[in-house]
Amino acid sequence: MIISIIGASYVGLIIGVCLAKAGNEVALIELDLQKVDAINSKRSSIYEEGLDELLNKVRIKVNSDYKEIENSEVVFVCVGTPSNEDGSIVLEQIENAAEQISKVLERKDEYCVVVVKSTVPPGTTEDIIIPLLQKSGKKVGEDFGVCVSPEFLREGKAIYDFMHPDRIVIAGYDQRSIDVLVTLYGDFNAPILQTSLKTAEMIKLASNTFLATKISFINEIGNICKQLGIDTYEVARGMGFDGRIGSKFLNAGIGFGGSCLPKDLGMLIARARKADYEPGILVEVSKLNEKQALKLVELLKKHVVLKGATIGILGLAFKPGTDDVRDSRAITVVQNLLQEGAMVKAYDPLAGENFKKLFPQVEYVNKEEVLNSDAILIVTEWEEFNHLDYHGKKVIDGRRILKAREASVYEGICW
Ligand code: UGA
Repeated sequence: MIISIIGASYVGLIIGVCLAKAGNEVALIELDLQKVDAINSKRSSIYEEGLDELLNKVRIKVNSDYKEIENSEVVFVCVGTPSNEDGSIVLEQIENAAEQISKVLERKDEYCVVVVKSTVPPGTTEDIIIPLLQKSGKKVGEDFGVCVSPEFLREGKAIYDFMHPDRIVIAGYDQRSIDVLVTLYGDFNAPILQTSLKTAEMIKLASNTFLATKISFINEIGNICKQLGIDTYEVARGMGFDGRIGSKFLNAGIGFGGSCLPKDLGMLIARARKADYEPGILVEVSKLNEKQALKLVELLKKHVVLKGATIGILGLAFKPGTDDVRDSRAITVVQNLLQEGAMVKAYDPLAGENFKKLFPQVEYVNKEEVLNSDAILIVTEWEEFNHLDYHGKKVIDGRRILKAREASVYEGICW
C-alpha cells in the first residue's frame, strides 16, 4: 500500500520502517528538519534496538511536505500530544496535522483512510479531528475514512512489539476504512479487535494506566513489606503464578517514568474530571509514584548528611535499553539531591547526553568513578550494574540490583 505518516518521532518512525519492511511504500512527513536530515542519512534521532539497521535496509521517503498525502491510501497521524499542567493535552499538533490533511483532501479524488495513532483522550477523533478533516468539503465515510488504531509499543523493544503484537485494535468510522487496515495488518498473528472510535482511544489509556496502577500497587505492597521485614520480590513471585494476576510489571522500585505512563495517567485523570468524575485510584497511583522517587533520597539521609556530600547515581534513563530521560525518576532524585546541597556524579550507558541538557551541573563520569562517592543510588536497572564491585560502599538501591548487596551498607527501597 502507499502510506504517509505524519510525525517521524518515536511511533511514526517505528511504524514507518516496519511497514516499509513489510513491502509498503512509505513516506514520512516531519516538520523538524534536523530529524528529516538524520533519517535521510539513515540515522535515527532516538536509540531503539534494531532501528538503525532497519533504516539502512528499507526504502523510506522523508520530508516536510504534506503533498505526499495526495497519492496515499493510508495516512497515519503520529504527532506528539504534550500535556498541560492539569494533565489535559495540548491539541495544537494534532489540530495542525488534521488541518493540513484537510487541505490535501480538498484536491484528492481517491478515497483514503486517516488513522489516528497519537494517544488522545476519548472523544477527540470524533469531536475534533473529524470536523477539521471535513473542512475539506469532503465527507467522512464516503470520500475518506477515519480509524483509530492505538500502538502498544514499549520503548527499546518497539520493533519487536510491532512485529509481534498481543492484539491489534482497529476502530473505524466506516467499514471500508476498517477493511483497509485489516488488509494492512492482515499478516500479523494477533487477534484484531474492532471497536468504536472512542472505545479504541480508551483502550490505549486504560492499558497504560493499568500498567501504572500495577506498578504503584506493588510499590505500595513493597513499602509495607519493608516496614514488616518481608522481601517484596518473593511476595511478587508468589503472586505472579496466579494467572489472574500475572508476573509482569510487579517489579517494585522507585516508580514509573517515560513519555507515556505518567502522561497518559494525567490525561485520563483530566478527562475524567472534565466528565465530572473524580478518579480516586488513578490520582493515588500518580501521588504514590511521585513520593516513591523521593523515598530513595529519604532512605539515603539515614546514612549520609547530604549537604556537601558527593552522591553517585547509577542510571539516568527512565528504564534500561533506552537513552530517553523523559519523566525519568532520576530527574526527581537529582533535583532533590541538589536542593539538599549535595554534589552529584552520574553514569548511564546511553542517557548521559540527554540528562546533561537538563542538569549541566552534574558531573558525568564512568561507572567506576561513580562508585567513588560518599554513597551511591541505583536509579535504573542496567544489567552492567550487576558486574560492579560494591565492596566497602554505601548503596541505596531503587531497582533491585542483586550484586549491590555486597556493599558494606545496602538498603533496598522496598526490601
Ligand atoms: C509503555 C507501555 O508499556 C507500552 O505498552 C505503550 O505502548 C507505551 O508506554 C506507549 O504508550 O507508547 P514504555 O513507556 O516504553 O511503554 O515503558 P514501560 O516498559 O511500560 O515502563 C514504564 C516505566 O515503568 C519505566 O520507568 C519502568 O522502569 C517502570 N516499571 C516497569 C516499574 O517500575 N516496574 C515494573 O514492574 C515495570
